[in-house]
Amino acid sequence: MATKEKIILAYSGGLDTSVCIKWLQEKYGLDVIAVAGDLGQDHDGLEAIKAKALASGAVECLVVDMREDFANEYLTSAMAANALYENKYPLVSALSRPLIAKHLVDAAHQFGAKCIAHGCTGKGNDQVRFESSILMLDPSLEIIAPVRDWDLVSREDEMAWAEAHGIEVPTTKASPYSIDDNLWGRAIECGVLEDPWAEPPADIYTMTVSPQDAPDAPTYVEVSFEHGIPCALDGKQMSYLDIIYAMNGIAGTNGYGRLDMIENRLVGVKSRECYEVPGALALIEAHKALEDLCLERSVLHFKLGMEQAWAEQVYNGLWFSPLKEALDAFLADTQQCVTGTIRLKFYKGSCTVVGRTSPYSLYDFELATYNADDEFDHQAAKGFIDLHALTCKVWAKNRLSMGAKMHQFNAVASTADEFTGAGSAVVEAAEAITETAANAMPSHS
Ligand code: ARG
Repeated sequence: MATKEKIILAYSGGLDTSVCIKWLQEKYGLDVIAVAGDLGQDHDGLEAIKAKALASGAVECLVVDMREDFANEYLTSAMAANALYENKYPLVSALSRPLIAKHLVDAAHQFGAKCIAHGCTGKGNDQVRFESSILMLDPSLEIIAPVRDWDLVSREDEMAWAEAHGIEVPTTKASPYSIDDNLWGRAIECGVLEDPWAEPPADIYTMTVSPQDAPDAPTYVEVSFEHGIPCALDGKQMSYLDIIYAMNGIAGTNGYGRLDMIENRLVGVKSRECYEVPGALALIEAHKALEDLCLERSVLHFKLGMEQAWAEQVYNGLWFSPLKEALDAFLADTQQCVTGTIRLKFYKGSCTVVGRTSPYSLYDFELATYNADDEFDHQAAKGFIDLHALTCKVWAKNRLSMGAKMHQFNAVASTADEFTGAGSAVVEAAEAITETAANAMPSHS
């Protein structure tokens, strides 16, 4: 008997991907090999996930503990990049997809499968991340996205289809939220959160307490880094993975790490996203504070732009792109001297850096102090400023010779011109300012 073609499926253990198994068998006559990973998400155990995949019809289910690799290969570069998409979101889901994709491609090679499937919808970023990663790792592979293709519109449709096909359906009432979580945090979407005016209900949170329920006394923690990677807490050497777990606990019990934001998805939709990212945000805060101490000014400033570019590449599913690789090389180079310790203070929802020290510190007390130890050359400042401002001084002289008024007041006046027609209060306010300015500057008119 001819053996069936095989397909690898990214399997989570949830209803969607369980239905995917049967759907792929029915529609394409494929043998489904499920791959499930532990990335530190809340789950019932890898063995239970495997049993469910097999019960749903998979011919095989690989379960992989991906936590060490996630921390040591993915969250290390995220740390070097202080990775925050739109300056806020630490890329919880975006960072996990390329690692899962790598395991899917490995499984395809191991089992001789030509095709990979995932359970993402057609509206999110995760489909882009899975597929872009897979295509970059092995461009010969084909991809099927059942949830994008099938006509099971509502959850009820899906439950009915599952029941009719002998797939175990959840007996508890389904959560109204769509949740994705791992070591680096938790993303919560949908339900009442789709109304951007609605305050997130307390029940969406599981990793953090509400700041008002947090302890009344502050908690202090010292985080040490070696070459940019967290390596100890309160002087105790620990693996990065264990530090992340510990920081999630410390920050979470102090009510720190909740985000509520409107986010721009790659597919063009603005979505309302809530996150719990206690450990990730606290570690990024600490890492930034250490960089403030150790990085030379122009490297630090230039790096900010590279960080944003890195976060966008990763958010957009381009983990394996050449630009991301080049940015990694730059960022890794900057981390050589990011070694030292940061003292954090957690208190009722806040995380504040209250101390920093490093053998590579560029903070020079004699240069910074205002006391008698001051070694800064105050006299040198005058010549410095003369040359620093020279080009702008020449420009200002030229403008004045052309009869121009002080340019900041002209700027207000031209803003007022642009708004005429709108008849708005803005125009009146701008006119009032212009008038005041004109009165205050009679010599220039
Ligand atoms: N908006 C976030 C992102 O694009 C979170 C996605 C969460 N995924 C999910 N399947 N609920 O990274």
